[in-house]
Amino acid sequence: MYLFNDTNKALWGSKRVLKHYSEQEHIQKAEASILKLLKPKLSEMKMLDIGVGAGRTTMHFAHLVKEYMGIDYAKLMIDSCRKKFSGYRFETMDVRNMSPLPSNHFDFVLFSHNGIDNMPYQDRERSLQEIARVLKQSGIFVFSTHNIHSIEALLSTISPVDSPPRKTLKWVKNGLFILMNGHPSKLKNLPYVVVNDGSWNFRLRTYYIDPRIQLRELEALGFRNSLLFSGSTGERIARNHLAMDNDPWIYFLCTHQLPL
Ligand SMILES: C[S@@+](CC[C@H](N)C(=O)[O-])C[C@H]1O[C@@H](n2cnc3c(N)ncnc32)[C@H](O)[C@@H]1O
Repeated sequence: MYLFNDTNKALWGSKRVLKHYSEQEHIQKAEASILKLLKPKLSEMKMLDIGVGAGRTTMHFAHLVKEYMGIDYAKLMIDSCRKKFSGYRFETMDVRNMSPLPSNHFDFVLFSHNGIDNMPYQDRERSLQEIARVLKQSGIFVFSTHNIHSIEALLSTISPVDSPPRKTLKWVKNGLFILMNGHPSKLKNLPYVVVNDGSWNFRLRTYYIDPRIQLRELEALGFRNSLLFSGSTGERIARNHLAMDNDPWIYFLCTHQLPL
């Protein structure tokens, strides 16, 4: 049985969330850096796009790869992708159980925009194992995850120039966050934490991890050569800067083999 909190699944499968993601068309800066790096190889690659949502990444990757498949466990998202993009395969599937997919098959697996962050630790581990299974030994896995070093920025700064109602709103928001999750100054030193940051009317619980711990977990799965990219600038992040980096999220490009 999954430990996953199913209110997350109901949220992803709602019309309101579909509408929000249907309006997203841009490529994120880190995704653009990664696309540039992979471009010479993409035409040879079978790609699996996990948590494809309304197909934001389909627009940027599908026409460049040899074979493209998008999956999402929210049926509404998949129905929408099928309508929007003909000629590509989309399936309703949960990353934690991709048993319909063969092992050692894909050259490139993408799980974009922190889709992996809305499940608890054990399910995340299971997802990473499933991804490692469907990926070829020579394959590339790209995903992003929230950075625990950015967690203090979830509290709003109250400025002297804020109007009294705005100040009150910020106090209430900050108070609720602390009440539900504890104080961010303590959370930021944990290896990982699942918090309710108020998004989607407090319906979503989100995983934040120390990127150095994430690297260790990836290494345990055999991904020994990860490159890291800033979610805000798309620039590479050096491993020795990870302790200081406070990007809200970080993209990881992982391979079993030598770095690209
Ligand atoms: C933050 S949205 C990102 C959507 C899209 N990738 C984008 O960047 O616009 C996360 C997506 O991951 C999907 N997702 C979350 N958990 C999943 C799971 N266990 N299996 C498959 N898809 C999942 C959600 O349904 C949602 O569509």
